[in-house]
Amino acid sequence: MSEPTFTLDGDDVPFTEGQTILQAALGARRYVPYLCFHKDFKPHGSCKVCTVKVNGHHAAGCTTPARAGDVVESQTEELTELRRDLVQFLFTEGNHFCPSCEQSGRCTLQAVGYELGVTQGHYNPLFPTRPLDASHPDVLLELNRCILCELCVRASAQVDRKHVFALSGRGLTKHLVVNAESGRLGDTDLAVEDKAMKVCPVGAILRKRRGFTVPIGERTFDKAPISQVLVAPHEED
Ligand code: SF4
Ligand code: FES
Repeated sequence: MSEPTFTLDGDDVPFTEGQTILQAALGARRYVPYLCFHKDFKPHGSCKVCTVKVNGHHAAGCTTPARAGDVVESQTEELTELRRDLVQFLFTEGNHFCPSCEQSGRCTLQAVGYELGVTQGHYNPLFPTRPLDASHPDVLLELNRCILCELCVRASAQVDRKHVFALSGRGLTKHLVVNAESGRLGDTDLAVEDKAMKVCPVGAILRKRRGFTVPIGERTFDKAPISQVLVAPHEED
């Protein structure tokens, strides 16, 4: 029996039972922008960058199950504008100084921004005051760049079984915290081998003494846009 399919921007996309629209699209090498999804974790649908239209209704592609016969739209001007707004908000509410960031060229936020045509700030930046935690001997935690995707939280809890990270607060006060009475990363049991070290899509969790091993200009997204790369560096095995 042939696989069931839905249409994505007019083309048939096959899927297997239990796959979401985003998983099926990526499996068919069709890019749908996303930020908080990661192939190794159950999707939780917080960033909404993967929003598509299913039979005319908005839905998060990463959490919506693929269904045979559904008509899914992704590459429309309306959806690109919506995603662009979401990404611009992220740039606005944090401090993202891309030219000086160690992750420039392999940062998923930067790559998705370029993909959506974000080339400059659109809203007035909030310039929040956020700490930089250099207390860990091997890891730098740069909260100015955190986009609250919860991937480190999920990786630390579900894979490392350490619960090093958590989110605290709501709305604009929502922020990443670490599991130590002192609030310092150096007082947690995070290790550089942990899965939590590999999943950050931006430059918020960085390994010390390993800067710029690949020169700017030769990095993943310097060579090809994320819509061609499909598997971003923070999702590589
Ligand atoms: Fe996501 Fe990185 Fe922030 Fe963790 S530190 S919530 S992985 S952006
Ligand atoms: Fe779907 Fe973030 S990737 S909500």
